[in-house]
Amino acid sequence: MSFYDKYILPRVINCACATKPVMRQREKVVPRASGTVLEIGIGTGLNLPFYDSARVERVIGLDPSETSWELAGERAAHLDFPVDFIGLPAGEIPLEDASVDTVLVTFALCTIPDPVAALRGMARVLRPGGSLVFCEHGKAPDPGVQSWQNRVNPLWRVLFGGCNLNRDIPAVLEEGGFRVGSLEQSYLPGTPRFAGYNFWGMARRA
Ligand SMILES: C[S@@+](CC[C@H](N)C(=O)[O-])C[C@H]1O[C@@H](n2cnc3c(N)ncnc32)[C@H](O)[C@@H]1O
Repeated sequence: MSFYDKYILPRVINCACATKPVMRQREKVVPRASGTVLEIGIGTGLNLPFYDSARVERVIGLDPSETSWELAGERAAHLDFPVDFIGLPAGEIPLEDASVDTVLVTFALCTIPDPVAALRGMARVLRPGGSLVFCEHGKAPDPGVQSWQNRVNPLWRVLFGGCNLNRDIPAVLEEGGFRVGSLEQSYLPGTPRFAGYNFWGMARRA
């Protein structure tokens, strides 16, 4: 892993993912998590302040970037529920089958190299009746925006740690073994349209 990817990129992402419109998205989805929560691609822990401590028993954060987790710092301290970190990629979730109540994933399905395989692993550890709570950016509905997304994507991937602008998130969720129950989608205000088309909602194991 290059010096940029290991030390600079987590700091860049920590800032880019903390803009007001993105934080508003977190506010909408994270409080839906309950019980034992597995957060995939927890990064620098930007979601932690938005969990509803009356509903959450424990959060297990998984991310291959330990540098990102070190940046969580104060965000991971003084919470009313325990938070454990696992420094592994989503393809290697070391948890028992049907052992978590909620899987939360925000702005990570864009980056995980094989999101379908990762989702199948999330479905495996989710208990029957448990929920996948998600908020992701991806392929916009407008052909003009899509064309920019496809053009910019090769450079974007290099600059932002493998992040893709143009993944069809609902299709990826379904292919990964989930049935999407509630889905909202919109461009985020104050965000370039090619990077700001968001999908958020909840899904269950198909
Ligand atoms: C754009 S950041 C988002 C971080 C966090 N989810 C958030 O909402 O702020 C993408 C995250 O996905 C993580 N990631 C990359 N590859 C991954 C993988 N194979 N499995 C799990 N997480 C991965 C990165 O380390 C990074 O923390």
